[in-house]
Amino acid sequence: MEIRTVPTTPYSDQKPGTSGLRKAVAVFQQPHYLENFVQSIFNTLTDYQGKTLVVGGDGRYYNRTAIQVILKMAAANGFGKVMVGQGGILSTPAVSCLIRKYQAFGGIVLSASHNPGGIHGDFGIKYNVSNGGPAPEKITEAIYAQSKTISSYRILEAGDVDIDRLGTSKLGDMVVEVIDPVTDYAQLMESIFDFERIHELLTNGRFHMKMDAMHAVTGPYAYNILEYRLGAPIGTVINSKPLEDFGGGHPDPNLVYAKELVDILYSDDAPDFGAASDGDGDRNMILGRRFFVTPSDSLAILAHYAQVVPAYREGIKGIARSMPTSQAADRVAQKLGVPCYETPTGWKFFGNLLDADRVTLCGEESFGTGSNHVREKDGLWAILFWLNILAVTQKSVAEIVTNHWATYGRHFYSRHDYEEIPTDRAEDLMANLRANLGQLQGKQFNSRYTVAYADDFSYTDPIDGSVSRNQGIRIGFTDGSRLVYRLSGTGTKGATLRVYLEQYEPDPYKQQQDAQTALKDLIALADTIGQITHCTGRTAPTVIT
Ligand code: G1P
Ligand code: ZN
Repeated sequence: MEIRTVPTTPYSDQKPGTSGLRKAVAVFQQPHYLENFVQSIFNTLTDYQGKTLVVGGDGRYYNRTAIQVILKMAAANGFGKVMVGQGGILSTPAVSCLIRKYQAFGGIVLSASHNPGGIHGDFGIKYNVSNGGPAPEKITEAIYAQSKTISSYRILEAGDVDIDRLGTSKLGDMVVEVIDPVTDYAQLMESIFDFERIHELLTNGRFHMKMDAMHAVTGPYAYNILEYRLGAPIGTVINSKPLEDFGGGHPDPNLVYAKELVDILYSDDAPDFGAASDGDGDRNMILGRRFFVTPSDSLAILAHYAQVVPAYREGIKGIARSMPTSQAADRVAQKLGVPCYETPTGWKFFGNLLDADRVTLCGEESFGTGSNHVREKDGLWAILFWLNILAVTQKSVAEIVTNHWATYGRHFYSRHDYEEIPTDRAEDLMANLRANLGQLQGKQFNSRYTVAYADDFSYTDPIDGSVSRNQGIRIGFTDGSRLVYRLSGTGTKGATLRVYLEQYEPDPYKQQQDAQTALKDLIALADTIGQITHCTGRTAPTVIT
């Protein structure tokens, strides 16, 4: 088998976004496009010769093709071993788990997360470092720099590896080990949660749940853990077979895209608990009977109840949340007497805090929650955490959440997304906002809202001192309400404007309202201050969560 050095020319658009390089499948299918990016990753790494790489993806279209390319390039670049999930399947949290467990050098995850898949959908590639977490900005920047000057890549000339058969084979000098994608991850979950109590709950005949895997990667994991290990009735997991196009759906676990599950949980004979996960298994949505738990509230509730989970019995060290995530978790941290960190959007910003043991739990409003057990957010982990709480407290989801509001106050919260806006218009909107920040301070709007601060969020990592600027416009009001505007770093068509709305309500009698009603004035104010309709021509958001 011969190692070939193939001449190539750079592509100018290989800048990783919030979570790796994400593009339409057709973009990845351009000649040498994938190879250029993979070689750019390898070019930024040092001292990996002979070491192990973990590779897998969410099973979307192009996953298998990309894995064969990566295997041959890893062999040609001198890796000692690649661990690949059977059938090319590995969820994002499972990759993180494997890197940590087997002390691998790093990992490559093939996924465009919650973006639609299939030949006309999206594909993506992310690099994870040796702590199991997403590559920090200095590495993604270096990869981008490499991609702009790349002139050749190295690949082994060899036949395809059979990734469907478990076991070990050789590719040139490199070992390829095809592993069961679920076992190690399931063992990790078993070491964290009280499986006995959860088993009792799931088999007591009174409690019912549904988990929607949305034809994405979590299917085999959820089946193995919930039905096989924990004894939940067959059929608890729906849409459990990973499909290359996710069955034509949009594998994003929210009220809009997880409609099948939402309909079940809002039906007359609804089960007690519902949950869904996304394309690559790192997101989660939690539902009770006719009850939606916002991800921001979920983080706060998990923190409040952490000690019912065996792994967190000693208490948590701290919490970190992304800046747009509501401040519900801050109140729990305060009560527990532990720090709460506010980081930019994207899981990579939690890595240093977790490694330094400053925090135990992390979360984002975008249906992401996780802990120090891996370095990615983790959908099934969050679902098991909720089941553990329900098993111990014997309360309903609605009771748990409304009790939480009564204790801490409710942070009414919503995110309004305006998708596929022409990029120049979205950038103008942000530029106008930025230009006007100085004049907003102290300004009063419709008697209730007085601006306490207005800034473009900048973050200094408390561990390594690195600074990330321009992370979103924050406008805070004196009553604790907040408006946040930022442009998505994961969309692939035009620009997506995200507007985050938050309003604090301490009075239990006013906490039962619908969030959109409670936030009505703030929603109108978001348009006044951001000039959304004027700049984009849109009168309503595309997705409200
Ligand atoms: C979105 C979410 C963000 C999350 C990321 C990856 O990024 O908002 O919280 O970390 O997906 O799942 P965005 O498109 O907003 O840049
Ligand atoms: Zn995801």
